[in-house]
Amino acid sequence: MVGRLVVVGLGLIGGSFAKGLRESGLCREVVGVDLDPKSRKLAVELGVVDRCDDDLARACEGADVIQLAVPILAMEKLLAKLAQLNLGGAVLTDVGSAKGNVVRAANEAFGGKLARFVPGHPIAGSEQSGVEASNAKLFRRHKVILTPLADTDPAALALVDRLWRALGADVEHMQVERHDEVLAATSHLPHLLAFGLVDSLAKRNENLEIFRYAAGGFRDFTRIAGSDPVMWHDIFLANREAVLRTLDTFRSDLDALRDAVDAGDGHQLLGVFTRARVAREHFGKILARRAYVDAKSGGDQVFLASPGGRLSGRVRVPGDKSISHRSIMLGSLADGVTEVEGFLEGEDALATLQAFRDMGVVIEGPHHGRVTIHGVGLNGLKAPPGPIYLGNSGTSMRLLAGLLAAQSFDSVLTGDPSLSKRPMNRVADPLRQMGAQIETAELGRPPMTIRGGQTLKGVKYALPMASAQVKSCLLLAGIYAEGRTSITEPAPTRDHTERMLRGFGYPVGVEGATVSVESGHRLAAGRIEVPGDISSAAFFLVAASIAEGSELLLEHVGINPTRTGVIDILRLMGADISLENPREVGGEPVADLRVRAARLRGIEIPSALVPLAIDEFPVLFVAAACAEGRTVLRGAEELRVKESDRIQVMADGLLALGVKCEPTPDGIIIEGGQIGGGEVHGRGDHRIAMAFSIASLRASAPIRIHDCANVATSFPNFLALCAQVGVRVAKEGRS
Ligand code: S3P
Repeated sequence: MVGRLVVVGLGLIGGSFAKGLRESGLCREVVGVDLDPKSRKLAVELGVVDRCDDDLARACEGADVIQLAVPILAMEKLLAKLAQLNLGGAVLTDVGSAKGNVVRAANEAFGGKLARFVPGHPIAGSEQSGVEASNAKLFRRHKVILTPLADTDPAALALVDRLWRALGADVEHMQVERHDEVLAATSHLPHLLAFGLVDSLAKRNENLEIFRYAAGGFRDFTRIAGSDPVMWHDIFLANREAVLRTLDTFRSDLDALRDAVDAGDGHQLLGVFTRARVAREHFGKILARRAYVDAKSGGDQVFLASPGGRLSGRVRVPGDKSISHRSIMLGSLADGVTEVEGFLEGEDALATLQAFRDMGVVIEGPHHGRVTIHGVGLNGLKAPPGPIYLGNSGTSMRLLAGLLAAQSFDSVLTGDPSLSKRPMNRVADPLRQMGAQIETAELGRPPMTIRGGQTLKGVKYALPMASAQVKSCLLLAGIYAEGRTSITEPAPTRDHTERMLRGFGYPVGVEGATVSVESGHRLAAGRIEVPGDISSAAFFLVAASIAEGSELLLEHVGINPTRTGVIDILRLMGADISLENPREVGGEPVADLRVRAARLRGIEIPSALVPLAIDEFPVLFVAAACAEGRTVLRGAEELRVKESDRIQVMADGLLALGVKCEPTPDGIIIEGGQIGGGEVHGRGDHRIAMAFSIASLRASAPIRIHDCANVATSFPNFLALCAQVGVRVAKEGRS
């Protein structure tokens, strides 16, 4: 592909580039240039280059690509020399850590004729230096940033891009100025701080004492102060403007921390520390455009479910997802400190939690389901620093939209690929009627851009579909709107928002199917105990019903009547479920559910129960597949716009397992009978993956379920609880 590659400067980076490409066989000849005779000799001996030259002009004769890998401050002179030579059609590129100054120097040297120059910067290195440290694999899975200019020849850019990719690098293109800003903040500033801190402590009289006791924290923080001082001095001189900008911002943040310490402002300190603690992890997830799924589990996560099994014992499923979301939202908007127990530490609820942290709310935890929220009051939210990323969570996005429509600041709501396909007009349209300014992407999909500073007006709105998310969104907007906001539902949906608002002392009117709020009241902080999620319990209700000989007790499950459709439907099918020890906890009814295996029969599911069991249909379809006779579901078109098209995805999976079924536009017809083994897909939808895990109890052979990582959005310990009660499902490759 390349005839002659010339690498000028045989240090760690230049040497590794030369060696890697030489070994790749992509270049006919690799020539090294270096001022140091020892480096030249070593480069040949170590196989880094084919040959070396001490004369730049001679080396560059007939070159196809010339890589400049000299220290950044030497770049100017080198470029001036190169400009005197006849380089033919050679492509010029470099590896400088700052790009603005290199481009400036190149412009001057070449009189603005830079079509064949491709500025670059590999973000890789090691504590070793010199040609003897050359490593052909140094750039593997490292980022290389190319900063092409307006007149860069696309063919030259493509060539340099290909060379780096051949070395295993992930290549990105960026503008010169952006590169220098980003690197100043993420690399140059931390180095300055590390050098500065070590020097500052070392200068003190008692330095020996300090260093003797400076264990973990000091060592970790200052590791990079062991880097090459000459190289770093070059970088700061080269990237002066961008470094100064980021340093000034940081200095004012540091002053604010100093003031907080001085004033004994623990709240401010706690805010900075809790936000910082989660920020690193959070940003990693945003970059991967995932929910809070463990970064290590990238790729397809497969569950392997072995056939058969019998359930016994007692379990407590994790906290209710809907209530967990609302506890963070209302706790943040309340006056005072709210303590939450039983919070669901699943990805979706964590996305909501992080969103409020981004808006300046101090939230401690979660730790074993305990969260402490330092409420900021109805008007205390601050503008988030950037787009609010909500992972897989539709509830977070829709409820937040209502709240944010009424704030003084602008906001942007984004999500993972599944959330990015879900309809948001159902909230954007009525919010616009209230006076909100909201833009969505095509077809009303995320991202949602919400303009702050609007005065909302109360409206009377009849929901076109039964949706607690839309209702809750409008209630949250309504507490900021002028006058009264009234929402009428076509069928009852979960009423957790109404209950929790009242629990926080906020009046909510209910008249028949219409719920309403008025602005002008406040939320008073309190204690919230989140009951177990009936949507999670549903998997075990079905599991114990279909697995012969089972008896299971599900403790402390929320049985809010707007959520118990799954119990009603299963009972209509013949299930043996009894409610024990009913009680009320923090305004929500709770009970222990005892379930015993039973012979299920197919039914026509009453349409009134559909919104009351909306999240439980995937596993109810599994119950139907195990039942005698035909089960028919209608009026459930909402299932097509959940985390996946749950009608189609379940039908595909059931058919793959040999179950007779037929999807319809608004439901499905399932003929009960034998379930076979096979391969099915979760399609990134937590409830699909869990439903097929449960199907294995009655399957004749193992079921492999692809794409299961999102189980963590609602039920992070699903596999552990399965193992505890006798469902044989595990991540593939683990017993
Ligand atoms: C939820 C409402 C339901 C449900 C979702 C959680 C809520 O959505 O599917 O998992 O917390 O309000 P819709 O109200 O859109 O049906």
